[in-house]
Amino acid sequence: MEYSADYKTVQIPLQYVPAAQLRNLTSALLRSTDLAPEDADIIADALVTSELRNLQGQGQGVRRVRAYVDRVRACHVDPHAPFDLVKESPALALIDAHNAAGTVVAVKAMRLAVQKAKVCGVGIVVVRHSTHFGSASYSASQALPEGCIGVSMTNAGPEMAPWGGIDGVVGTNPWAVAVPTGDGPDAMPIILDMALTTSGKGMMRWLLRDGRKMPTNWAITADGRTTDDPAEAMDGTLLPMGEYKGYGLSLITDVLTGVLSGGAFGTVPYSNQARQEVAHQFIAYDIDWFGPRAEFYAHLAEFIGMVKASRLRPGFKEILLPGELEWRRQQEKSAGGIPLDPEVFEDLRSLAQECGVPWPF
Ligand SMILES: NC(=O)c1ccc[n+]([C@@H]2O[C@H](COP(=O)([O-])OP(=O)(O)OC[C@H]3O[C@@H](n4cnc5c(N)ncnc54)[C@H](O)[C@@H]3O)[C@@H](O)[C@H]2O)c1
Repeated sequence: MEYSADYKTVQIPLQYVPAAQLRNLTSALLRSTDLAPEDADIIADALVTSELRNLQGQGQGVRRVRAYVDRVRACHVDPHAPFDLVKESPALALIDAHNAAGTVVAVKAMRLAVQKAKVCGVGIVVVRHSTHFGSASYSASQALPEGCIGVSMTNAGPEMAPWGGIDGVVGTNPWAVAVPTGDGPDAMPIILDMALTTSGKGMMRWLLRDGRKMPTNWAITADGRTTDDPAEAMDGTLLPMGEYKGYGLSLITDVLTGVLSGGAFGTVPYSNQARQEVAHQFIAYDIDWFGPRAEFYAHLAEFIGMVKASRLRPGFKEILLPGELEWRRQQEKSAGGIPLDPEVFEDLRSLAQECGVPWPF
């Protein structure tokens, strides 16, 4: 089964909308809360970028708008929280996010990591007491226009059991590494952006609605059995990618975010929706510090050539770089419209009515 290249569905009738109008609508909905307009715009751009790059079922796109609006209204996210620099050295910073919007914190933290990298060659910013930050690649990619490699990671709710266990203790804990392949927006960056579970509950829900089975390496049932039935696995836990190796990476991610920052880890993140207690880490490497940037790009092009020259296994059409699929989806959806989940489309319509925002479609 090939899921990653496939955003067409069996049963769900998709609703195509232009990206620019969706971005404006999302900004307007978020601006109708107490969020500062520039923060609302960052979150809107992050959500629409995820919608452009990811699959609908992966759940980091505009289906999150209602939850984000509701969370600000319920004071579960503090729109006025300071970006609090607890401790700083030339290359390092520790931030207390004080329950601010995670997407905005992540962008600010990566910008700070880049500033530090421009001085020290590398900048590392660790964040505690934050909230959901969306797609890891959005913050990692902030480093690209500055000629830096960006790394972004977060902990998350305990949806994965330790290898051999049944009970969820660690999270999907995604990582993104964004590497520029040239200067300017036309050079496709290499972007590895991955949860450390094989897949996620959003994708399971999507397959369930679409009447499909799932691969047996996605999740186990609540009593620890393997299954290909997404309904049966919904109360169970997600399986790590790469078996015990994915579990190990997820555990280390909790160490590098929650434990290192003095924030929350393990079973605590997302256990209280009023304080999600998420922790993140951001790293920027300044390519210029290591040598001439043109040389880095030339070596990278040579390396990509080696990768692409590999002979293909039967059944494969081409070798892809990390982020290449998402780059193509982004181009395709930017030109031809974003295929929205009809449930999300209707939810946005009623949210617009509730917020007094004109409906653009
Ligand atoms: N904030 C959170 O709590 C949270 C939690 C989980 C996931 N996420 C986000 O959800 C999104 C989806 O994550 P995912 O793990 O489901 O992504 P995925 O499995 O679709 O892709 C993972 C990576 O594999 C690459 N890839 C996919 N197919 C490939 C192929 N055939 N050849 C080469 N490379 C290929 C992709 O380019 C990507 O870099 C990400 O943006 C992630 O950051 C966020």
